[in-house]
Amino acid sequence: MNKNYSLRITTVLSLFIFLLYSGCKSGVTHDPKKLGLTADNAIVVSARAEASKIGIEILKKGGNAFDAMIATDMALNVTFPFAGSIGGGGFLVYRKANGETGTLDYREKAPMAAMHDMYLDENGEPIDSLSREGALAVGVPGSIAGMFAVHKKLGSLPMATILQPVIDLAKQGYVVTENQKNRFENYSDLFRKINEKEIMYSSPFTANDTIKNPQLAQTLERILKNGKEEFYGGETGQKLIALLSEHGGIMTIEDLQSYEAQWRDPVVFNYKDLRVISMAPPSSGGVCLAQIMKMIEPYDLASYGHNSEKAIQVITEAERRAYADRSHYLGDPDFVDIPVNTLIGSDYLNGRMDNFSFEMATPSASLNHGDIPGYESMETTHYSIIDQFGNAIAVTTTLNGAYGSKLYAEELGFFLNNEMDDFSVKPGSPNMFGLIGAQANSIEPQKRMLSSMTPTLVEKDGKLWMSVGTPGGSTIITSVLQTILNVEEFGMSMQGAVNAPRFHHQWLPDVVTFEPNAFGKGLLKKLQKKGYQIRQENSVILGKVDGIRVLPDGRLEGGADWRGDDTAIGF
Ligand code: DON
Repeated sequence: MNKNYSLRITTVLSLFIFLLYSGCKSGVTHDPKKLGLTADNAIVVSARAEASKIGIEILKKGGNAFDAMIATDMALNVTFPFAGSIGGGGFLVYRKANGETGTLDYREKAPMAAMHDMYLDENGEPIDSLSREGALAVGVPGSIAGMFAVHKKLGSLPMATILQPVIDLAKQGYVVTENQKNRFENYSDLFRKINEKEIMYSSPFTANDTIKNPQLAQTLERILKNGKEEFYGGETGQKLIALLSEHGGIMTIEDLQSYEAQWRDPVVFNYKDLRVISMAPPSSGGVCLAQIMKMIEPYDLASYGHNSEKAIQVITEAERRAYADRSHYLGDPDFVDIPVNTLIGSDYLNGRMDNFSFEMATPSASLNHGDIPGYESMETTHYSIIDQFGNAIAVTTTLNGAYGSKLYAEELGFFLNNEMDDFSVKPGSPNMFGLIGAQANSIEPQKRMLSSMTPTLVEKDGKLWMSVGTPGGSTIITSVLQTILNVEEFGMSMQGAVNAPRFHHQWLPDVVTFEPNAFGKGLLKKLQKKGYQIRQENSVILGKVDGIRVLPDGRLEGGADWRGDDTAIGF
């Protein structure tokens, strides 16, 4: 393993998460049982009030959760350029009112001209900036293909009814929040450097300024008129490719023309009386969540207590083992065979915790991925919607890093992703979240890069119970996990579960990250004595979870994360 690994990762991960959430408060105490927003019929919860409102208005017009999804997603393009953008991709997990479930994968893909070692220097070492900034970092965007696929299969209102409010919002503008102002300030130099000029978002803003985006309004108007092809080959696509070529990119019009969103079966598993429905590969979310929850199921977490020493140990050790498997086995299922059923099956998982003891941490260096006989290895945002008809969706969508590659398509009004960094650019070399990977997630033309996004729906006793998800790179899976456990095991409300302080472990680096000012010094000392390396510096906050749960009386409760500008709206 690379000697500088821990240092590099700690720096990169801390900087990323610090910049992501700088400006947020931490260590705020909340009543864990207090309900968040409640509503009789429907709730939309997302990273911005304007986007939640546009989604709710679509529902009030008689639209369903899928119509509201498209409206909310596109409104996030306008109001949350940090992560929500048609320059990226994402995943939808849905459960229709009749109980039918499914997922849509509109993850970005490597361009056809991508090569295995395209981010390595002449000594075979990764040049991190190439996979993270500028045109070479950009994967073929999937969001518009995703929206049209959802509309065709599950939508009920005309696209014009859905998109017009978003186009109006882009023209009229949205109000800059304090968090947003801070982020624009943090990134303005990088915007200038990557774009080699001033862009709209590099100018100084103050909170309460209004930002209009007429270019994005025009792009959406053209998409409305010409359909999906406008983005994947029409004027918008041509302009996109011209911009990327100008900046040294390798994506071609054929890459756009051949992009298709994929309907995939979800990963489904039981945890006690819950049935969890989550995203399958190319996201690692569902598989890792299943592995962790199955590994901790035999332990009586509720009796240990929320964020108690024993609960933290069990969860951390299960996370360690799941992330070790993630880095070895998981990748794009269209390119690699993934033994999903074995990985989440009891036979395999029962043995995985055999070497765990409450006395001592299992060092990650002593632990590898599990052996499966016969197997040959060869800035994000989440929103949840439950509608008045009982349909539920969980959607996580991303540009990867904050503002993606920072490359801004000025004429089109959006940022482009840097999703190529989610590939394992070299076996054992960490990506920006410190995740390492192997052959299964190596770069190949037209392959999808492995994701951690974990949009998840949960049933209790056969009925819809929760929709949940979050941004946060590698911490997504563990934040979703803790939010579900907070309600199921520790009796919190949806809002209380979202508010509660979180911790995270991902096998390598061998450190457990704790949200600052929220865990007692005595507790952390005890864990340290058992061999757990603790990290709490740099205002690290894990995830920005949004969720909705169905209350026992059938009403809905929203949980919107106080760590951002997230807002639940309902009726
Ligand atoms: O797909 C993934 O796992 C990453 N691209 C997600 C990035 C992310 O969550 C950044 N936002 N906080």
